[in-house]
Amino acid sequence: MTVRFVLTAFSAVLMLAACGEIGTEAPADGETLDAPLPGLTPEELAAFLKGDEQFGFAFSPVLGLGPIFNNVSCASCHSGDGRGRPENALTRFSRSATDPALDIGGPQLQDKALPGATPETLLAGVLTSLRLPPPVFGTGLIGAIPAASILANADPNDQDGDGISGRANMVVPAAFVPLDEPGGGSGPQLGRFSRKAQVTSLLQQITEAYHQDMGVTSDFLPVENVNPQVGTPTETADLAVDPELPLADLRAVVHYVRLLAPPAPGQDTPQRQLGEDLFAQIGCARCHIPVMQTGSNIIQALAFKPVPLYSDLLLHDMGDALADNRPDGQATGREWKTTPLWGLRLIRQFLNGQAFLLHDGSAGSVEEAIIRHGGEAQVARDAFVNLSADDRAALLDFVESR
Ligand code: HEC
Ligand code: HEC
Repeated sequence: MTVRFVLTAFSAVLMLAACGEIGTEAPADGETLDAPLPGLTPEELAAFLKGDEQFGFAFSPVLGLGPIFNNVSCASCHSGDGRGRPENALTRFSRSATDPALDIGGPQLQDKALPGATPETLLAGVLTSLRLPPPVFGTGLIGAIPAASILANADPNDQDGDGISGRANMVVPAAFVPLDEPGGGSGPQLGRFSRKAQVTSLLQQITEAYHQDMGVTSDFLPVENVNPQVGTPTETADLAVDPELPLADLRAVVHYVRLLAPPAPGQDTPQRQLGEDLFAQIGCARCHIPVMQTGSNIIQALAFKPVPLYSDLLLHDMGDALADNRPDGQATGREWKTTPLWGLRLIRQFLNGQAFLLHDGSAGSVEEAIIRHGGEAQVARDAFVNLSADDRAALLDFVESR
């Protein structure tokens, strides 16, 4: 957490004064996943720090956790504001027309419950989709890219004939999202967040995370989520008065996530330069668009900024092997949003040296993730496999240095 880093830096200074040498070094700029965007006003920075604390705050039953839930804090799933681990994955219930799971469990399996309530269980025959937590940094910049810039890359009927379509997930925001919220509005809006771009605003993403993932009610979703497989839990299960989360705290977390900076890319080297050229030549960059730009924004730190995300934020059919058969908004059961590749350089530092890539964490390295690409990405994948060993190494070095 940033607060911790500030304290670490502070105690390092104290130790320096006391014994003449530095005990711990705070990470340099651009080396963390939880730094604020550059150029925040003092007010924005103060709100960021408040939201940072709330992001790490572990709920207890007295303070609103449950009755059913998946985890106790945002940070417990989004490790270090980065990616999650397989044990923090969410199991989404399937939503195919013939599958009754939505009626018997809502959007996801809540496998934990307070005493007095019953955790949800997976019923036989219900399709599921495993989703690893994506990183949360840079999502404010993603939200500030004008919808028109993203839609300009969509080619739903593949009119340019390159085998890559790219579709937008247009979804109606939840009823509680104010019309003037970024990503809000009447009628379908462009989805940008989560693995199928099924969410249009950070406010909705985060309000639903509190409600679904932690069982914490707010002004926007004031009624507890209960296990429909057994009905209302006993009154001892969750004693906290609804809404459990003050609006100011919810807003602070939205603000915090919005103002998180992406980490800086690694040093340029001749090998990485070659890898970057190959990334464009073999077609990776058609979906993993290196840079987009934000538009005007009331937050200056988000206005007219480059966004080096390596994604078009559009949906692509990735083939049978990656299909989860669970539609989400307009996304089909074979489509996924192009995963941004920024921050890949640092992932192992926050996950005990491991990497869990792709929506379900099934790839343990960048190379494995590429090899599992299919569908619209089959041509690029095959071109990667057919590169010389040196060229493959250069491309991997480039991607892993983002
Ligand atoms: C139980 C684990 C879990 C908890 C707790 C959790 N998340 Fe998530 N989060 C996820 C998963 C999984 C996804 C992707 C969901 C999907 O694709 O359907 C996600 C997606 C997101 C995204 C979208 C990121 C992107 O790039 O599209 C944001 C932002 C986010 N979470 C913020 C939060 C915040 C803030 C909290 C605390 C209020 C929180 N999450 C709590 C698991 C969790
Ligand atoms: C047709 C669009 C498309 C093309 C072309 C494409 N990708 Fe992807 N890429 C995706 C999508 C969509 C995902 C998410 C798939 C999933 O989670 O199941 C993804 C995921 C990834 C991931 C995993 C990232 C993570 O954090 O989980 C890496 C690494 C990656 N791509 C690299 C590449 C490279 C390198 C190339 C070129 C050889 C390439 N991709 C070509 C669409 C594409």
